[in-house]
Amino acid sequence: MKKLFILLFACMFIVACESKKKEVAKEETPQNTVLILYYSQTGATASVANQLKSCMEADIEEIICENPYSGDFEATIERCQKERENGDIPAIKPIKSDVQKYDIIFLGYPIWFGTYASPIASLIENAHFEGKMIVPFCTFGSGGLESSVEDLKTHLPKSVIMEGFGIRNARLQYLQEELDDFLIRNGYQQGEAEELTDFKVQEELSEADKKVFHEACDSYPYPMGTPTSVSKRYRKDGTEYRFITRSTDDNNSAKMTVYVKLRNEKNAKAEFTKVVR
Ligand SMILES: Cc1cc2nc3c(=O)[nH]c(=O)nc-3n(C[C@H](O)[C@H](O)[C@H](O)COP(=O)(O)O)c2cc1C
Repeated sequence: MKKLFILLFACMFIVACESKKKEVAKEETPQNTVLILYYSQTGATASVANQLKSCMEADIEEIICENPYSGDFEATIERCQKERENGDIPAIKPIKSDVQKYDIIFLGYPIWFGTYASPIASLIENAHFEGKMIVPFCTFGSGGLESSVEDLKTHLPKSVIMEGFGIRNARLQYLQEELDDFLIRNGYQQGEAEELTDFKVQEELSEADKKVFHEACDSYPYPMGTPTSVSKRYRKDGTEYRFITRSTDDNNSAKMTVYVKLRNEKNAKAEFTKVVR
């Protein structure tokens, strides 16, 4: 009988230790809570937000303007220009999510006039993002991720602004693969990312490089300048080019960096992936 008691006690002790170990393990690997908060006028940024949602455990909320923009490009430009002249920002509906509940906020927006769309300026004025980790994501016609991230850093000095994700709206067919690569590379998703080398020094352009640049850029409605140098790196799915260009206007010394990708597929056409102004 005494032996049976000792055995029973030993078993209870082991079970208690095991459950304590599990509790500790739980505490050591806390699950981050993620909110995807985004504004989208014509659906491109919404598609990135929804793709993100399908990749991770997260809540999602769309930012809605009190007086929505029409969705027409010219009309939006005109309205924004008036708002900017008057120093106005568009009122947005109150957010339903309790931001304080979340550790990480994926903040999405289209690029407007080189930075985050103005409804995001309204959000920033009213939301309490202090101490939050903000992961910007955006869509654009040609670029603007880098400048919008800098503007977020200026306007949210008490938040931690992480590396952001951006994609041209004309390249949304590559959204899944580029977003997966971003999420893995930055530790938000498990998986293996291809090792990436940096672009090396800029070199003189060959005729073949010029052809790639013109194929990628000539049909874009806004000028990309004249390429003056190039650097390349090779990835599994193709070659990435970094062109430095100078303005074609003699009175303007502005330089741009134009990134182009030429995929390995047969008959693939070179496409620019972003412009950094
Ligand atoms: C008012 C306005 C300004 C814009 N400014 C820029 C810009 O400076 N740079 C750029 O690359 N794209 C610009 N765009 C294009 C948008 O960033 C692009 O169409 C975006 O993918 C739209 O996202 P959405 O469908 O989520 O609204 C602008 C669009 C609008 C309506």
